[in-house]
Amino acid sequence: MKVVPLAGALGAEIHGVDLKQDAAWNEIHQAFLKYAVLVFRDQKIEPADLMKIGARFGEPCHYPFVTGMDKFPFIFEVIKEPDEKRNFGGAWHSDTAYLKQPPLATLLHAVQTPEHGGDTLFTSTAAAYDALSDGLRKVVDGLTGVNSAELKHGGGRSNLHKGIGSMKVHDTDSAADYVAEHPIARTHPDSGRKALYASRSHTTHFKGMTEEESAPLLNFLVQHQVKPEFTCRVRWAPGTLTVWDNRCTQHNAVNDYHGQRRHMRRITVGAQTPR
Ligand code: SIN
Repeated sequence: MKVVPLAGALGAEIHGVDLKQDAAWNEIHQAFLKYAVLVFRDQKIEPADLMKIGARFGEPCHYPFVTGMDKFPFIFEVIKEPDEKRNFGGAWHSDTAYLKQPPLATLLHAVQTPEHGGDTLFTSTAAAYDALSDGLRKVVDGLTGVNSAELKHGGGRSNLHKGIGSMKVHDTDSAADYVAEHPIARTHPDSGRKALYASRSHTTHFKGMTEEESAPLLNFLVQHQVKPEFTCRVRWAPGTLTVWDNRCTQHNAVNDYHGQRRHMRRITVGAQTPR
């Protein structure tokens, strides 16, 4: 197995691994903890294989707003058709932070990709935390974020998801029911490293403060954590599988491929309480 880092802060491409085989699992897991985003090319895997590979990282999680595949309810298809303008996941976020126990990892497998465009950006929220001043780290260490599934800053989940016609979206009207409080600086259970855990997509305010009072610092943090030096970019091809650590990263699916089709399969695994 060969590990080729993608950027300074996070991300690595892993060569010489067939994920359908069990080989090198320990090394893969160590690389996952070190690089937080792992990219595997040319993986010929079916949904049943994706379930098995996902299970290496944790138990499968249910996604509340998109119906899963027939026979594989935990896997759903992320699709943008050539005639659609809106994409799924096109804003910085960590997956389902509005759940009490969000998934530790997400696996995304590319079935069909545009000729160009449709990359996914990732940022290390651990590097972003480390780069804060001592003074601000002390402030954020004492804050709790309130996270909602409503996508308030994106125009509202129901409204946004109406435009993703080819995906099996449902129950978006119940988005306001999904609210969870999590530390703004969470500690990775394996490495002990702290990472920011706040996004414009999900975090509405700090506990004990109004949205208006929270906005200046929240806006600073969400802009700070996506500085180029904390990021890497994954370019997809059919067969690419990327797995990322939601505890110390955020991602953003770039919507720059109108007129072309993009089709991925996604599973989240390992429900865990952020601490
Ligand atoms: C997501 O946010 O899970 C979608 C990412 C992508 O399609 O690149």
